[in-house]
Amino acid sequence: MAEKKIIAVVGSTGAQGGGLVRAILSDKGGGFTARAITRNPTSDKAKELAKQGAEVVAADVDDPQSLKRAFQGAYGAYCVTFFWAHFSPEKELAEATAMAQAAKHAGVEHVIWSTFEDTRQWVPLSDSRMPTLMGKYKVPHFDAKGEADLVFTGLGLPVTLLKTSFYWDNLIGFGMGPKKGPDGRLAITLPMGDKKLPGIAAEDIGRCAYGIFKGGREFIGKTVGIAGGHLTGSEMAAALTRALGQEVRYNEVTPEVYRGFGFPGAQDLGNMFQFKRDFEQYYCGARDLNLSRALNPSLQTFDAWLEQNKSRIPLD
Ligand SMILES: NC(=O)c1ccc[n+]([C@@H]2O[C@H](COP(=O)([O-])OP(=O)(O)OC[C@H]3O[C@@H](n4cnc5c(N)ncnc54)[C@H](OP(=O)(O)O)[C@@H]3O)[C@@H](O)[C@H]2O)c1
Repeated sequence: MAEKKIIAVVGSTGAQGGGLVRAILSDKGGGFTARAITRNPTSDKAKELAKQGAEVVAADVDDPQSLKRAFQGAYGAYCVTFFWAHFSPEKELAEATAMAQAAKHAGVEHVIWSTFEDTRQWVPLSDSRMPTLMGKYKVPHFDAKGEADLVFTGLGLPVTLLKTSFYWDNLIGFGMGPKKGPDGRLAITLPMGDKKLPGIAAEDIGRCAYGIFKGGREFIGKTVGIAGGHLTGSEMAAALTRALGQEVRYNEVTPEVYRGFGFPGAQDLGNMFQFKRDFEQYYCGARDLNLSRALNPSLQTFDAWLEQNKSRIPLD
């Protein structure tokens, strides 16, 4: 039997990487095997991945030497950064650079870089429709990822740039679920006007990434955008109402109001939603639902995701 190709997965105990490791391991005859990269191989999540058949390897994206060791001998590498762990676009760019250099050093044959748009190409710093943040960004957690695209391509890596979408899981763990207003009624709050927000079940990102690795050559040198659905705030609220069996409204606010909410990252997210709202046609167009489904035939719609996850959505 032919040797299985190793895919080294950064963030393997998290949302994106975890989905990819599970997708690889569940396709026994697929010709690939998963190397799960974690800072802590003895954690419960890492041990669970080992039990399921992953090779678990220690590395830290802030330690370039550890990445070089972790990528050695791999056919593929899934590269993702963790903005919300440190809120620093500069650190994110350095981490992406370390991963790209490690992939180059290891001679990896297919790299997927989980990225976003550098929004400054649409909204230059001189554009006053949204504030400039941290001195030189419009959407810090997007812009440095987009900037890093050039690091991957500049090194001549065989890379697929994977543009992901808003996790619907944010309704569970990121504080974006329905909340009771002063009137006691539940509402989700978004500054999207009547525009559509591409969203996806976080687990489906890894499954789509696996489809890209299986496609191989077809996707090298390409940018691929994925989503499970494009929905307006009203459509999301209506789907939540159906799933939860109680009314959820769409509380539409302006990006200015959202930026002023004061939680860590509120300004960044306010700018992000404004970018998605103001460039809806481009942003949805770059995240093709049919291609996403072709990559991942089990891709969930928002309704399907809600059916599976509604009991986990906190209603406060
Ligand atoms: N929330 C959204 O809607 C959304 C949508 C699209 C993209 N994103 C982007 O997704 C990225 C995060 O990916 P995710 O959601 O898959 O992450 P996640 O679920 O938060 O998982 C992060 C995992 O990565 C590992 N990790 C953290 N810091 C590390 C480090 N220094 N070195 C090595 N591993 C480290 C941790 O594993 P160990 O503790 O085991 O090391 C952790 O389990 C962010 O950059 C965010 O901008 C978010």
